[in-house]
Amino acid sequence: MALLTIETTCDETAAAVIDRRGVVLGSAIATQEKLHERFTGVVPEIASRAHVERILPVIDSALTQAAIKPENITAIAVAHTPGLAGSLLVGLVAAKTLAAAWQKPLIAINHLHAHLYACQFVSPESVYPCIGLVVSGGHTSLYHCTSALDLEYLGGTIDDAAGEAFDKVAAMMRLGFPGGPAVSRLASTGDPKAHAFPRSMIHDDHFNFSFSGLKTAVRYAIVGPGKQDFDLVKMDDVAKANVCASFQAAVVDVLVSKAIRAVRRYHVTQLCVGGGVAANRELRRSLEQAAGRGGFRLTIAPPELCTDNAVMGAIAWEKFHRGEFATLDLDIQPGLQRGY
Ligand code: KG4
Ligand code: ZN
Repeated sequence: MALLTIETTCDETAAAVIDRRGVVLGSAIATQEKLHERFTGVVPEIASRAHVERILPVIDSALTQAAIKPENITAIAVAHTPGLAGSLLVGLVAAKTLAAAWQKPLIAINHLHAHLYACQFVSPESVYPCIGLVVSGGHTSLYHCTSALDLEYLGGTIDDAAGEAFDKVAAMMRLGFPGGPAVSRLASTGDPKAHAFPRSMIHDDHFNFSFSGLKTAVRYAIVGPGKQDFDLVKMDDVAKANVCASFQAAVVDVLVSKAIRAVRRYHVTQLCVGGGVAANRELRRSLEQAAGRGGFRLTIAPPELCTDNAVMGAIAWEKFHRGEFATLDLDIQPGLQRGY
């Protein structure tokens, strides 16, 4: 028994074949970073066209690695929410077509729940109940999770996502796209105390986040208020590294402090963290310290399962066991409903 999982929510085209015990028999990812680089962000129209070109070779590659025939696939699972509409559609149409052609059940995956499931996927024991923190390019959300599929949304960003802030700060300093890895690399040589950047809402007794004020503060640190263009000539590598380190410290402080607040509020002993930003070394280090001090268990998705991939689609086995199948009229749901 094996699942075929498909992921096309943003700019990664991915497919995986995962057996019932959670062994990954095949996994393929085609990234689009080069296509979006010069725009310093994902361009939806380019992303969906690229998915169309890549989806079949990627699925084929995952199936070939797994050396599995279609008749031995148990079900086809696809991330249908949240994400870019055009991107989601490509994966969904591929999944529905294969489900119809091969007469297989279809399973709908919530991409954010899958990001968190990456933690359960690598844990020998159950991680539930836990607080789940998803930090990605599109989302920064906290959940109280009583199982892989039962998640109570506690709060999230009211403006930019954490990863988006990394990408925009990188764009201000022309560090390339995606910005997270570049900012974190430079940050490792900078002084996190060089700039006292704002930690919005850090002391507020709720689970929302805001990163747009931080982004503006970074911009002012680079050019000063009121200027239109960034005066990069005056910024040497040390100055850039200091901005990166101070910015990263502000993001990390807020994420860690809100996650700890949620762990305490919901009296759980486990924190799970997933999503692209969870690959950030400083965030991982700071979370580990906090878990040590706070006496709670911490599972962070391994770096290769932080950024978008289809392996985290193994969450579909949980739905399979519950008998939660989708019908062929399953639609995409680009935005998040409250409660997700
Ligand atoms: O989860 P993901 O691959 O896609 C979404 O679902 O959004 O996350 C991508 C985001 C990008 O904003 C990228 O800059 C950020 O994750 N990212 C990082 C790091 N690696 C990727 N941010 C900070 N530090 C990193 N090492
Ligand atoms: Zn993602």
